[in-house]
Amino acid sequence: MAKIAASILSADFACLGQEVADVQAAGADLIHFDVMDGLFVPNLSVGIPVLKSLRAATGMFLDVHLMIDRPLRYAERFCAAGADLVNFHVEADSRENLLLGLEKVRALGKKTGMTVKPGTPAEALEPFLPLLDLALVMTVEPGFGGQSFMEDQLGKIAWLRERIDRVNPACALEVDGGIDPRTAPLAVAAGANVLVAGSAIFGKKDRRAAVEALRSGGTQKIAD
Ligand code: DX5
Ligand code: ZN
Repeated sequence: MAKIAASILSADFACLGQEVADVQAAGADLIHFDVMDGLFVPNLSVGIPVLKSLRAATGMFLDVHLMIDRPLRYAERFCAAGADLVNFHVEADSRENLLLGLEKVRALGKKTGMTVKPGTPAEALEPFLPLLDLALVMTVEPGFGGQSFMEDQLGKIAWLRERIDRVNPACALEVDGGIDPRTAPLAVAAGANVLVAGSAIFGKKDRRAAVEALRSGGTQKIAD
């Protein structure tokens, strides 16, 4: 069964600790922490001080998605601030620097992730797969919550599932962007086992029903 990662991008940041406790009670498996620098993506979000505060407020697994340019510069600081997994974009730096970043994250006892944007072929992740705990396929252009799922990315998910099963079966395959009760089963059928959802969880009044609907393949009706 797929794990559900609640993306804080759609949470109320004025009460983030409470929001996280709420989605934990609703059954979310992990917290997806979206970091944006206004360069790698055309938006800004939160960074190290917020991660540190959230770490002190929750024991949940923190999956940190770095949508930032040259993430090696900050990898150690995100680890020290309490990330459980640090996820780089494959487009954000040279292969050499990305490898150094993964090494740093590992050396600090944290898990490693690598992401591809919709326009980047899945093959770009291949050389990193043996070193990863998680591979992430973006199914929207990164930068904003609430966009529509890009179905043309399903082939990329399936391609990665096949490669992961061969070279590193322990590596999780995560999908991020436009996940809702209709699209969640498409991603799972293609091979994803971690689903990120922001608006489809935080945007709903009944968050338990929202998480359940994502997990169970969208058979339940969710109130707005
Ligand atoms: C987008 C972020 C996502 C975002 C997903 O750049 O990486 O994690 O929060 O939002 P939804 O689930 O609303 O598409
Ligand atoms: Zn994300």
